[in-house]
Amino acid sequence: MTTTASPASLGSLFGGLLSRRAPLAEPVSPQRTQPQAAAPEAAAAPGEVLRIAGLRKYFKVRGGTVHALDGIDLAIRPGETLGLVGESGCGKSTLGKTLMRLHEPDAGELHLMGRDISHLLQRALRPLRRDMQMIFQDPYASLNPRSTVARILEEPMIVHGAGTLAERAERVAWLMQRVGLRPEQGARLPHEFSGGQRQRIGIARALALQPRLIICDEPVSALDVSVRAQVINLLADLQREFGLSYLFVSHDLSVVRHVADRVAVMYLGRIVEIGDRASIWRRPAHPYTRALMAAAPRPDPTLRHQPRPMLEGDVPSPIDPPSGCRFRTRCPQATVRCAEQAPVLQDLGGGQMAACHHIDLSALRRSA
Ligand SMILES: Nc1ncnc2c1ncn2[C@@H]1O[C@H](COP(=O)(O)OP(=O)(O)OP(=O)(O)O)[C@@H](O)[C@H]1O
Ligand code: SF4
Ligand SMILES: [Mg+2]
Repeated sequence: MTTTASPASLGSLFGGLLSRRAPLAEPVSPQRTQPQAAAPEAAAAPGEVLRIAGLRKYFKVRGGTVHALDGIDLAIRPGETLGLVGESGCGKSTLGKTLMRLHEPDAGELHLMGRDISHLLQRALRPLRRDMQMIFQDPYASLNPRSTVARILEEPMIVHGAGTLAERAERVAWLMQRVGLRPEQGARLPHEFSGGQRQRIGIARALALQPRLIICDEPVSALDVSVRAQVINLLADLQREFGLSYLFVSHDLSVVRHVADRVAVMYLGRIVEIGDRASIWRRPAHPYTRALMAAAPRPDPTLRHQPRPMLEGDVPSPIDPPSGCRFRTRCPQATVRCAEQAPVLQDLGGGQMAACHHIDLSALRRSA
């Protein structure tokens, strides 16, 4: 860390430029303190940053319709990291982009800070966008190559009409310091930075408007192993400092195990299991979760002698997903029922849920 600025000093530093965040000051508009009433079944519980219910996103393509998201339900609490794992093509990025409303959802509800934003038009959505930001896998592709870094960091503030020129410049310098860059580097272009530094710029940009939730889509996958830990530690420090929530997408289970408080496992557009990190690792209930874990290295010696179900074949096409349980074409436990009936998430206790017709509840209890 190269800076020691605290939230309190941040408040005085910007003279209220972004004074809507506790402990800095008041919300900017009555809308922010009086969330719209929401449908009871999908309304966010008090304190939830995000809740989605029945979220669906299909893409029409030449060969048919891609079922990228097919009824996603989940919630994210303040200050927590929800890890999202699943093989390539399962819909992780589509979920992130649909939450950001970069894709319009086809169905379902999306509540941000208790407010239903599912049907807000882009214009009405703009003031709420500052609460939710995104960090992308490829920091270079997501940064305008012709803009200086200072301009890239200032832009969100300009778009949202935040601060005077001098206040914005001051905040840009602070942001750069906070992510471990020198303010004088703000005059440079993105290509003059290393991959790790570019991801720091992406993080600084996401932080510019003091969001509540950051969607981190494979934020360290493109980085050298040597700088991954630095970026992960930076994200952890920022989370502690500002009470941020993260949706942390990664195909690397070891990274998710390190950063996540809870974990959601996704397969072909659906969440198949969700729960606390410890429960998911101690007693994974869904055959897909177990297969993903089996495919990952096992540092824990107590797990080495457990059977390792293998994950065979590729993810089927989301244009024509299997009937019933989508995992059935690769599942060693599949039965006729699995082809006929889609399993729903069932409560396994301790906040863990899984969608499978044949969960061995007694075995789970023994491993609890
Ligand atoms: N704009 C789009 N138009 C059509 N199909 C799309 C679009 N975006 C994503 N898809 C398809 O939706 C499915 C889910 O893609 P998505 O990128 O969300 O997967 P992912 O889990 O993020 O994969 P990866 O781990 O490779 O990043 C894929 O079949 C993909 O081809
Ligand atoms: S529902 Fe059937 S096919 Fe799906 S994971 Fe469970 S056992 Fe396997
Ligand atoms: Mg992706």
